[in-house]
Amino acid sequence: MYRSIRTGSPRKPAILVGLPTQISRLPKALQELDEAHGGRISAARRSRMFNGKAGDLIIEGDDVILVGLGDREQLDQNAIRSLGGRLAGRLHQADLHAVDVQLHRTVPEQVADGDALGQALAEGIGLSNWRVDFFDGKASKNAAASGSLTLTSSDQEVRGGMRRGLILAESTNEARRISATPPNICIPSWVAQQARAAAKKTGLQCKVISFAEAVKQGMGGLVNVGKGSAHKPCMIILEHRPSRPRAGHRLVLVGKTMTYDSGGYSLKINNSMKGMKYDMNGGSAVLGAILAIARLKVPVNVTAVLPCAENLVSGEAYRPDDIITMHNGVTVEVTNTDAEGRLILGDALSWSCRKLKPTAIIDVATLTGGVVVGLGHFCAGMWCEDDGLREQVEAAAVSTGERVWQMPLWEEHRQFMQAKHADIWNSGPSRNAHPIQGAAFLSYFVDKGIPWTHLDIAGVSAVEKPDDLHVVGPTGFGVRLLAEVAARTGS
Ligand code: BES
Ligand code: MN
Ligand code: ZN
Repeated sequence: MYRSIRTGSPRKPAILVGLPTQISRLPKALQELDEAHGGRISAARRSRMFNGKAGDLIIEGDDVILVGLGDREQLDQNAIRSLGGRLAGRLHQADLHAVDVQLHRTVPEQVADGDALGQALAEGIGLSNWRVDFFDGKASKNAAASGSLTLTSSDQEVRGGMRRGLILAESTNEARRISATPPNICIPSWVAQQARAAAKKTGLQCKVISFAEAVKQGMGGLVNVGKGSAHKPCMIILEHRPSRPRAGHRLVLVGKTMTYDSGGYSLKINNSMKGMKYDMNGGSAVLGAILAIARLKVPVNVTAVLPCAENLVSGEAYRPDDIITMHNGVTVEVTNTDAEGRLILGDALSWSCRKLKPTAIIDVATLTGGVVVGLGHFCAGMWCEDDGLREQVEAAAVSTGERVWQMPLWEEHRQFMQAKHADIWNSGPSRNAHPIQGAAFLSYFVDKGIPWTHLDIAGVSAVEKPDDLHVVGPTGFGVRLLAEVAARTGS
């Protein structure tokens, strides 16, 4: 793993070229480059019987890297991102430190223009150049991260794309680092500290609503869920205020930030508690996204809101049967203390609608196990009843490869949440449509007329098997997606 990756103008970079399958001779677009390099590309191709299959990669000496682009028909931005993902480790192994990206010569414009190509490649390289090693102790044998990689290209668009891609990967990795930090360290005040430090570095405004302040403001959800822990809850607000924002837009991103979810008195059983340090991945995604948005200077007003709490058991903890009053005055009968995410999110959504007057609001949460059963680790569940916002989120998801799939949210689902002795309950007596129950509950806290999307990322926010982009652990799902949504806002 490299210690750092950047763009620049290195002295003797290796050239990176891509070849599709089913070609008999070197494509015209590469002939000049081949000659300039003394025929090293065609020689490498011949001597290694390289036939351009997707996934093929050869490194010839210290100056030529050949990658297979596969079938041109199947090539897309995701394939280029994956290619970048496979590349980083191989480059490091080969002790290469500078690469001149020439993929645009053979990747068709319709697949990805220079900008998109550079971005996808750099994202892949940056995302795969990450692991969880900050808790390696005396008994670990992992080699330390070493050296640096500098990326360049003769194409200006590719260079610009790579610069953006690296920023997006870096911001995603920042979210992953916070997610991977265990709950004995990552407590609400620690998250607030991380947010403040990140804000200072990037010029974001950061404000933290303390426990006492949350009580005063009537945030019954956040207060009740979090009061059972010695580490009291808080709500973190990060604001991106560009100097010339696109007029008439204010995007608000809300992320569930449970630093640990034991289930509370409705305790998680049969080892289902293990992994609940990741119950803050919505919050870290939102944090990573606003970091990227600030670094990329996206000309849109964006606010990130992180309701942050720890769901534990104690003499102070809330219990099933409690009835609590939320920030907007809606009363909730607690039927299950393990349906806690929607309680802290409800307050955050209501607070955001009242104080920030969003033109669009998106919440991201590891909300239900049900969405994992229904959709697996293939995509996030999406709920959105506003056509414009839904199209924007779906388009962003296609380009970032963080897939979403729409689920229904109807009046019948909302009625399903109505309780006997309070306005609503936090979980119905039956588990039917259980991820939709979560969304229906949240809808009670979004003011009418504000376009809203709920993303349930419980299945995608961490992986148990490594892939081209991710090691086992948090994926940072949502960071690039939300940054892309912001970039598309009002454009
Ligand atoms: N944090 C969990 C959801 C979760 C489960 C995330 C598995 C990641 C992996 C959430 O707070 C929860 O406990 N949900 C309950 C809801 C139920 C009590 C209505 C669930 O999914 O079982
Ligand atoms: Mn829970
Ligand atoms: Zn939870």
